[in-house]
Amino acid sequence: MIIGFIGFGKVSQNLFKLIQSEDIEFVTSCESRSAKTIEAIKKSGMEILDAFEEVCLKSDIVICATSPKSAIPIARKYGGKVNGIYLDLNNISPDTTMEISEYVGNLVDGAIIGKIDSDNPILYLSGMKADELEFLNEYIHTRVISNKLGDVSTLKMLRSSYTKTLSALLIESWQLAKDRGLEDEFFEILALTEGDEFREKSLSRIKNTLNSSKRKSEELDEIINCFGDSELIMVKAALDKLSQ
Ligand SMILES: NC(=O)c1ccc[n+]([C@@H]2O[C@H](COP(=O)([O-])OP(=O)(O)OC[C@H]3O[C@@H](n4cnc5c(N)ncnc54)[C@H](OP(=O)(O)O)[C@@H]3O)[C@@H](O)[C@H]2O)c1
Repeated sequence: MIIGFIGFGKVSQNLFKLIQSEDIEFVTSCESRSAKTIEAIKKSGMEILDAFEEVCLKSDIVICATSPKSAIPIARKYGGKVNGIYLDLNNISPDTTMEISEYVGNLVDGAIIGKIDSDNPILYLSGMKADELEFLNEYIHTRVISNKLGDVSTLKMLRSSYTKTLSALLIESWQLAKDRGLEDEFFEILALTEGDEFREKSLSRIKNTLNSSKRKSEELDEIINCFGDSELIMVKAALDKLSQ
């Protein structure tokens, strides 16, 4: 079996690490990619093809994990070239998933939930072809939710609206505490109710959010497009905060 990656960032690199089997080969392309991605691809040692079109033609499963904004253009460009299953792992709305299904035949709606560089994230799947990816459970905890495209994207959006809004609030409170020389005490008093690991988890969440604020903003945009902006007061505020 051949698994092809479109996008070889944190998500794909972790999948590559977890799905190790003598029966599975990986392919991708360096076509128009950044130095950072090219370096990661070369380091992986997987087969590098000249173009993503070739990746699609050759693979039994194409995994697209790029960015929410590029999900539709990529599906439009390559969807027709995919012979096998196309697993989209981008943080996109159910509407975006349905639009992608217009360009891609065997689409599976997917999400990686959990810390992305950990050994135990969970792969959630939905869609008519989702069952065909259940074998991945051998390498990564895999849970098929339903045969309906859009179910996983909806869950992903709901989770994202909670965690990303909370991260923006955390950054705001942490900055206020730091400016007043009370960072340690801030974490100490919150740990009393939130648990001993609160400081460590919060600092990791803050770092992660600040390092990928552009992508996180795109994801918040997707949430607003998904649920409509009339009731999303907190999410809109989080987007404002991350845009600064
Ligand atoms: N990180 C997480 O915790 C997490 C969890 C679940 C889902 N997701 C979703 O999964 C997707 C990937 O996340 P990530 O953290 O892996 O992102 P990332 O580390 O920023 O990596 C993105 C990868 O996609 C490539 N890429 C971007 N546009 C492309 C295009 N048009 N054609 C081919 N490759 C392209 C990038 O290459 P260049 O370097 O050349 O731009 C890079 O290799 C996102 O949609 C994200 O929302 C992320």
